[in-house]
Amino acid sequence: MRKILLSLFLAFILSPIFAGEGMWLPLLLKSLNEAEMQSLGMKITAEDIYSVNKGSLKDAIVHFGGFCTAEVISDQGLLLTNHHCGYGQIQSHSSVEDNLLKNGFWADGKQEELSNPGLFARFIQSIEDVSDKVLSGVSEKLSEKDRQSIVDKNIKALQNSMETGPFEEIMIRPFFNGNQYFLFKTISYPDVRLVGTPPESIGKFGSDTDNWVWPRHTGDFALFRIYAGPNNEPAEYDPANKPYNPKHFLPISLDGVQQGDFTMVFGFPGRTNSYLPSYAVEQLVDKLNPAKISIRDEALGIIDKYMRADEGVRLQYASKFARVANYWKKWIGESQGLQSTGAIAKKKKYEKEFNTALNAHPDKKMLYGDLLGQFEEKYKAIKDLAYTRDYYSEYTRNVEIIRVMNYLRRLAKSQQSGDLEGYEAFKGRLIDRFFSNFYKNYRPTIDEEVFGALTEMYFTNVDKNYISEKAQATVASNYYGYANLAKNFFAETVAADEKKLMGILSMPPAKAVEAFTGDPLYKFVDRLAEHHNETVSKPLNAIQREINELQRKYMKAQMEVFPDKRFYPDANSTMRITYGNVNGYEPRDAVAYKSQTFLGGVIEKYKPGDYEFDVPEKLRQLYEDRDYGQYAQDGKMPICFLGTNHTTGGNSGSPAIDAYGNLVGLNFDRVWEGTMSDINYDPSICRNIMVDTRYILFIVDKFAGASHLIDEMKLVWPKTLPESKPAKPKLDAKSLKKRKKSKIGTNSKIIRPAPSKQ
Ligand code: ARG
Ligand code: ASP
Repeated sequence: MRKILLSLFLAFILSPIFAGEGMWLPLLLKSLNEAEMQSLGMKITAEDIYSVNKGSLKDAIVHFGGFCTAEVISDQGLLLTNHHCGYGQIQSHSSVEDNLLKNGFWADGKQEELSNPGLFARFIQSIEDVSDKVLSGVSEKLSEKDRQSIVDKNIKALQNSMETGPFEEIMIRPFFNGNQYFLFKTISYPDVRLVGTPPESIGKFGSDTDNWVWPRHTGDFALFRIYAGPNNEPAEYDPANKPYNPKHFLPISLDGVQQGDFTMVFGFPGRTNSYLPSYAVEQLVDKLNPAKISIRDEALGIIDKYMRADEGVRLQYASKFARVANYWKKWIGESQGLQSTGAIAKKKKYEKEFNTALNAHPDKKMLYGDLLGQFEEKYKAIKDLAYTRDYYSEYTRNVEIIRVMNYLRRLAKSQQSGDLEGYEAFKGRLIDRFFSNFYKNYRPTIDEEVFGALTEMYFTNVDKNYISEKAQATVASNYYGYANLAKNFFAETVAADEKKLMGILSMPPAKAVEAFTGDPLYKFVDRLAEHHNETVSKPLNAIQREINELQRKYMKAQMEVFPDKRFYPDANSTMRITYGNVNGYEPRDAVAYKSQTFLGGVIEKYKPGDYEFDVPEKLRQLYEDRDYGQYAQDGKMPICFLGTNHTTGGNSGSPAIDAYGNLVGLNFDRVWEGTMSDINYDPSICRNIMVDTRYILFIVDKFAGASHLIDEMKLVWPKTLPESKPAKPKLDAKSLKKRKKSKIGTNSKIIRPAPSKQ
């Protein structure tokens, strides 16, 4: 009996059910991941996911505006992404009379879909390993600077040697800290229109309170459409453009997910730091995160106070507040997660193993030296500088008027250096893209209070050597404290008032610059910035370059001394795949989270009239009637689910794809306890959060009545490969139940997918 238990236990801990770490390059899946993916339950092949010879999953995935991911879900270019990814566009189509954020929006037909200047959908056409070409002529003997100039030259030459059509681009990016380089051939479609969005009370349900939190009940999705020219080619917005016909689009599974199911998430993760030495992580936990969190604490506290007191302020500041609160909350979770999982001790243990392995190769030991000792020294040297940099950057980014002043500083620099063309160009961009939105959501009274509070923190908590003496004198000469200093600055400044500043900017350059550089607040900000640049940025960048070099060597050495370990490159906004299982987690003692939420949970959280937790009447009615059509799971409406997929910022809007290549979810967040996955992925608590596609379909169909959109999608049931799917069945509840019970004999039915053009 004991033996059986033991072997069961071993099978459990050795089973790859928690596999999830890693953001893998699509073109290397075959060699690195396919076998594991299939062992986890995947029924398709690496070639079905990424192929240059035929339509594959990758042809349905786009970089959405360069900051999120989206996927094509119909043969007419219908695009699915998150509500929070399309937020800016939805907001820009909203007015007090016609508030799309509040009421939602569903285009009645294609002619009603709304264009979005500046937005684009970028496809990846092919990926190529160009390490040999980019690193040709590079040797370990070169200085970092010489190395970089050879690399830059090689990249330029390679780019020039390749032909690109209109809207095509060649991007070459470093991987593994510059040990490898990959080339991405992309094509961008600039006509992307808004098709539909639920109201915020669904798309942003739970808002900041529920952000990064499980259990979650947010229908965080919106629909867009890619339009193309007469030959399906990329084209700037034109009413005559036609819906784009994709090489591949994702069928949507009505089967949903169950605990343990295989899922993969395909998208454009932005940035991770998985291979930092323990010294860097220590610094982050001890100094940097606490500093950043404390500044945002203060700023958010002030803004929140005003938002609660005044509905107008709430509307103006909701989006800014959400942005600042998003990472504030993430850092708190990150620090806690790093501590609770003993990340630093784990890193230290790994570093010991690394040193032992390195010492076993005298030649390598000669070549690399004491990498960790050097890291320790450099991170010690950078400690105060890094803290000051983070303090300064959080201070200056959270006081809105300091941001304005920094833009004006850039204008002044162009004018003073005689670059009038640059001046005019930057001024134009500033007015069109920044000021056009800035003042309508700006309250100087709030900013004044934030300025006073954050200036006090900055002057109190940063070493005086790093702060301009003149600025210190200004502060010292004000006997009445920081609030009074703020009051005086704001009373005099030209930048708190739109008319005043626009009046100045309409003057000839020299006159304008003379006017705004005379502003006492401008001078204060300018002095802080200049001094910071000299005493912090410059020395810090010099050490940072040395750290980057160490990091590149450390990465290379790890790959050499641990040849059997599988390494994945850190995220860098290039296309990646991560895979794992549907799974809950145990965040702390005696607490266990399940992996799925249901509509009943929305109703539990419902607070009538509350801006975060109100629920539309129609949705409550659908719940009362249990009117879920073909989208229910055992009579309940699924909302969100968790997986062990390794995701990060930029993965929002990424498709969650099942074992058969069908869409089952829409990624939008991670759980708070596991936000440290950017630095230390831990399978016990790192989870990504996805909206169940059945909830999306239900909202589009039953809530919004936009069944014409459902008709254009391809819904599949039961689990099958795309080719062998039956026609879309509309099952009534009874036969649905029967279906669920009869286990579908999956494997035997599988037919290898033929090259598909859908
Ligand atoms: N935490 C998610 C991400 O990092 C969602 C953010 C948007 N939602 C919000 N309430 N701020 O992007
Ligand atoms: N919410 C993030 C995004 O917008 C995703 C994440 O950080 O997990 O990309």
